[in-house]
Amino acid sequence: MSKVLVTGGAGFIGSNFARTALTETPHTVTVLDSLTYAGNSASLADLDPARFQFVRGSITDASLVDQLVADHDIVVHFAAESHNDNSLNDPSPFIQTNLVGTYELLQAVRRHDKRYHHISTDEVYGDLELDDPARFTETTPYNPSSPYSATKAGSDLLVRAWVRSFGVRATISNCSNNYGPRQHVEKFIPRQITNVIDGIRPKLYGAGANVRDWIHVDDHNSAVLRIIEAGQLGETYLIGADGEKDNKSVIELILTLMGQPADAYDHVNDRAGHDLRYAIDSTKLRTELGWTPRYRDFEAGLAATIEWYQANEAWWRPMKAATEANYAKAGQ
Ligand code: NAD
Ligand code: DAU
Repeated sequence: MSKVLVTGGAGFIGSNFARTALTETPHTVTVLDSLTYAGNSASLADLDPARFQFVRGSITDASLVDQLVADHDIVVHFAAESHNDNSLNDPSPFIQTNLVGTYELLQAVRRHDKRYHHISTDEVYGDLELDDPARFTETTPYNPSSPYSATKAGSDLLVRAWVRSFGVRATISNCSNNYGPRQHVEKFIPRQITNVIDGIRPKLYGAGANVRDWIHVDDHNSAVLRIIEAGQLGETYLIGADGEKDNKSVIELILTLMGQPADAYDHVNDRAGHDLRYAIDSTKLRTELGWTPRYRDFEAGLAATIEWYQANEAWWRPMKAATEANYAKAGQ
């Protein structure tokens, strides 16, 4: 049994991780989260207080971070500013949380010699051409495009430097696009589902040829648990479930699954610098650590996600109007 400190655990992936860790391991979980616009304490409301506690605070608060890290065995670092569109409007919080926040955590795990797992993204590798047979691997050169992905790339490099220079006991994982319950309605899939529920036409950036490599959030988190359990210190593992789909197909599938005509969506302004395609080769994780994804049928996973948003309107309703108002300002 370990005491696990989960940063950003009121967000999409971190809250699902806290849930999975409590169900599938004997560990206790402490979530450290500052509850930005993206954090939702409702995602944690039903967790067992005998093994779970919530601390509201920022990963940029050095003394709070030091105190919490000292009192735990493992840090799993999810906290981030996570949305590309926001990073184009105002990069400043991305620098603070993704770079300075990661620095504070690394200094604390170094001081207290604690195990650290760093959650990152495939976006650090930039993008691929649509017809390129290549996929990202652990040796693909870093080439981030947006302020968001540049700060995530920078934070990965800080981890590598702290491993090499100070012997910090860390692993890194870079995962592709997650979908599933409890994702903020600013993100592509929940935005379109909740638009359809509200009678608003879904919004496709540009022509919608861009490809994302979708993975269910529970598969991401089972891989993280496996890396914590068996990953080699100092190593990076790419997490992906062979889920490449173009955005246009995903929007059409959402409309069809929700009983609407497949073409009942609008083309809106494209994202500046929009990455064309992400694709993950997760051979290392599968062969070295024996991990495999459980959700292999994207349509079934998407249908279950739609049902979750239909059944949990109270969870997303408070964020919906402000999110759409922001998009409207950008013509999106
Ligand atoms: P999210 O935006 O849903 O959640 C982020 C959480 O971090 C929120 O609860 C927020 O309140 C918290 N947070 C932000 N700044 C903080 C600070 N300074 N101190 C403490 N807490 C703070 O993000 P997500 O989609 O769950 O992503 C989690 C992690 O996974 C991020 O590191 C992201 O880069 C990475 N990732 C995400 C995806 C994806 O598809 N969503 C894919 C690969 C990797
Ligand atoms: O690849 C992993 C990354 O996936 C994570 O690191 C990020 O934190 C996460 O937000 C996600 O980044 P994307 O930019 O790929 O996700 P987003 O949901 O914002 O957009 C997915 C695709 O859909 C992208 O090509 C832009 C497009 N899009 C998005 C929105 C919100 C639309 O066409 N319409 C929309 O309304």
